[in-house]
Amino acid sequence: MSLLSVRDLTVKFAMREQTVTALNGISFDLAKGERLGIVGESGAGKSITGFALMNLLSRPGYIDSGEILFEGDDVVQMKPRALQDMRGNRMAMIFQDPMVTLNPVLTIGEQMVETLRAHRQLSREEARQIAILKLREVYIPSPEERLEQYPHELSGGMRQRIIIAIALLLDPQLIIADEPTTALDVTIQADIMELMLELCQSNQVSLILITHDLGVVSQMTERTMVMYAGRIIETGSTRAIINDPQHPYTQGLINALPQQTKPGQRLKQIQGTMPALGRIPAGCPFNPRCEYATATCRSQIPPMSQFAQVQVACHEVQRLQFEAEANRKEELA
Ligand SMILES: Nc1ncnc2c1ncn2[C@@H]1O[C@H](COP(=O)(O)OP(=O)(O)OP(=O)(O)O)[C@@H](O)[C@H]1O
Ligand SMILES: [Mg+2]
Repeated sequence: MSLLSVRDLTVKFAMREQTVTALNGISFDLAKGERLGIVGESGAGKSITGFALMNLLSRPGYIDSGEILFEGDDVVQMKPRALQDMRGNRMAMIFQDPMVTLNPVLTIGEQMVETLRAHRQLSREEARQIAILKLREVYIPSPEERLEQYPHELSGGMRQRIIIAIALLLDPQLIIADEPTTALDVTIQADIMELMLELCQSNQVSLILITHDLGVVSQMTERTMVMYAGRIIETGSTRAIINDPQHPYTQGLINALPQQTKPGQRLKQIQGTMPALGRIPAGCPFNPRCEYATATCRSQIPPMSQFAQVQVACHEVQRLQFEAEANRKEELA
């Protein structure tokens, strides 16, 4: 059985003028210990997916339909008590900004001890000992002293390590990390990612990693889901997505990577921008930006189908493959 099984998840925002769809029938599975990357440009619906999985959406957002089965329990139907118990205990979320999670007026120790005691029957001292252990796991030097400090007394990198320690406090089976290192220096970003990978692997924790960075996805995850305008448009093994992407959008994302550009050449950005909710075009949502778009693409939503090594939602995938093949032959000739 999958650890997580998401079926036809649809999220809407009830705005004053109209109700808009932010997630449109998302389905995927996650096995125990598996690491999944969610990528896509700003506004694709990555964070909304993360919030929805924890049933943490707040008004005007709501889950309109679908199932989120976590170890067989439907998160969508859970009562507040059960939800509270699940969050932290079984699923934890890490955000871009550590200060979203950390309370500025409590010491690190107070926050960790409170969290533990809210979920487990532990004495203060027992909880303190677990907190110290978890800080050691994330390589925080002199953890006893850190427990006495307030969040603002720590560096950004240190804070994010503490967030990871807090996420791991109750030994969850799944961590959802939303751009966990974007706010940090580049040098520290790599350290934190490496730490997360190590901890997930050694504790058999599943990871959903939300990021703009395809480099990070290829380092961290086994499977990748590409999102566009609230839909999954391509998914498969991370290796296949990076090495042989089929959707023109995914191809565009990969061509825009700095390492795909020769020195002196300009970065090949995808033209245009992600549509706002409520302005999503008919047919394939990517069609106005797609150089391969046909009349069918402008009127019909492409279904997900298996092609090469991936699942992809594109009407023209066969033609693309054919043209790419022809180009390769021409280059060789
Ligand atoms: N509270 C809200 N009310 C209305 N619309 C919202 C709200 N929060 C998000 N949205 C919209 O939902 C869509 C998806 O947003 P989401 O935050 O999931 O994007 P994202 O992929 O995480 O982008 P980013 O990479 O910038 O974090 C966007 O169009 C956004 O404007
Ligand atoms: Mg986001």
